[in-house]
Amino acid sequence: MTDRYAVFGHPVAHSRSPQIHAAFGSQEGITVDYRAIDAAPGQFEDALEAFAADGGVGANVTLPHKEAAFALCTTLTARARRAGSVNTLLRKGERWHGDTTDGIGLVRDLTDRHGLDLRGRRVLLLGAGGSARSVAPALLDAGILELVVVNRTPERADELIDAMGEPGRALSRYWDDLRELGDFELIINATSAGRDRDAEFKLPLSLVNSLTAAVDLNYGEAAIAFLAWARAAECRNVIDGLGMLVEQAAESFQQWHEVRPQTDAVYQTLRTGAASLSDGA
Ligand code: ATR
Repeated sequence: MTDRYAVFGHPVAHSRSPQIHAAFGSQEGITVDYRAIDAAPGQFEDALEAFAADGGVGANVTLPHKEAAFALCTTLTARARRAGSVNTLLRKGERWHGDTTDGIGLVRDLTDRHGLDLRGRRVLLLGAGGSARSVAPALLDAGILELVVVNRTPERADELIDAMGEPGRALSRYWDDLRELGDFELIINATSAGRDRDAEFKLPLSLVNSLTAAVDLNYGEAAIAFLAWARAAECRNVIDGLGMLVEQAAESFQQWHEVRPQTDAVYQTLRTGAASLSDGA
């Protein structure tokens, strides 16, 4: 039976992962059978079992299944346990091993592609849902000075901070108090607010200093509103989530195929495609 790979999500038709993994495969001379599988919430476990029975040995998991994937794994990496989220599944015998590569993907994009030194930075993380939690541990591990999490629903920010287990360095604050938080060298939008058509970000300019990099974990239309604010606020770097997407995929690819793909060519192809899409819109 051919080894099969897939990304599970709902919806998933828009996913770039099949294109990215096919490109990595052809770069490395590996034939990769990687598809997108749409599974509604409630059907994810059955769909994954059917996939395994059909030769499925590795899978990516995207919205809304990352927590469900976390719950069904028999073994987990330490970073997945801390993030409470799994985006990469590896079949081991009859069981699934889970990892999260989102955080390391973000850190690689910021440090390797954009040349940012994260050490010593004050970081503001907007949002405390699955996306925020999947990147928080890797940011702390990258040596940032402080992580301040602000969320519309404050209890979720508190939960995220509790899960990090670093009370001195990671703290939660109220959205209404953004003006009192000082300035940050890194501001990350991990909310899904930009997915609303007429979203607008009104954040205080006092958050920005001469080094501030603004990063949206989304890409495409969902990133437009936050990145527009970041440009207007004259942030030094304005970065969307496309690079993180490619880097997290490379990390998954490496775990499945034991070879690390080059990411730049794939990133450039997607970037050009994204630009021509938005030019045409
Ligand atoms: P994801 O997996 O994309 O993180 P999620 O777990 O549903 O999705 O989390 C969405 C995040 O975006 C949450 O932090 C949410 O805030 P709440 O916890 O208060 O719901 C945040 N969010 C969504 N819409 C928002 C908006 N209009 N303004 C501010 N935050 C918003």
